[in-house]
Amino acid sequence: MPRPEKHVFICTQNRPQGHPRGSCGSNNSADIMAEFMNEIQRRNLFDKILLTNTGCIGPCMLGPNVLVYPEGVLYGKVKKADVKTIIDQHLIGGEPVTELIVPKEIW
Ligand code: FES
Repeated sequence: MPRPEKHVFICTQNRPQGHPRGSCGSNNSADIMAEFMNEIQRRNLFDKILLTNTGCIGPCMLGPNVLVYPEGVLYGKVKKADVKTIIDQHLIGGEPVTELIVPKEIW
């Protein structure tokens, strides 16, 4: 497998119902993971983009959170409709999607 150009971590952490921190899992991060998988498969981007589901990466209240390396860009409150934009603009086009980036004072 060639070294991927982008490594995308999607938080799929779950916590018990009513937990004060909430979780990306309870904000439907599994749907975001599935949407990334579908798009990457549809476009055959497996050599360029590696997807990894991960546990908590910090700002749970902004989940679902998606972290992209090598840039270290963290996207928050990602919706299914944002996935194509992140792939087109950032993962392929190289320009982070500024309106989805978690504010610096939070992460
Ligand atoms: S549960 Fe996803 S960032 Fe904490």
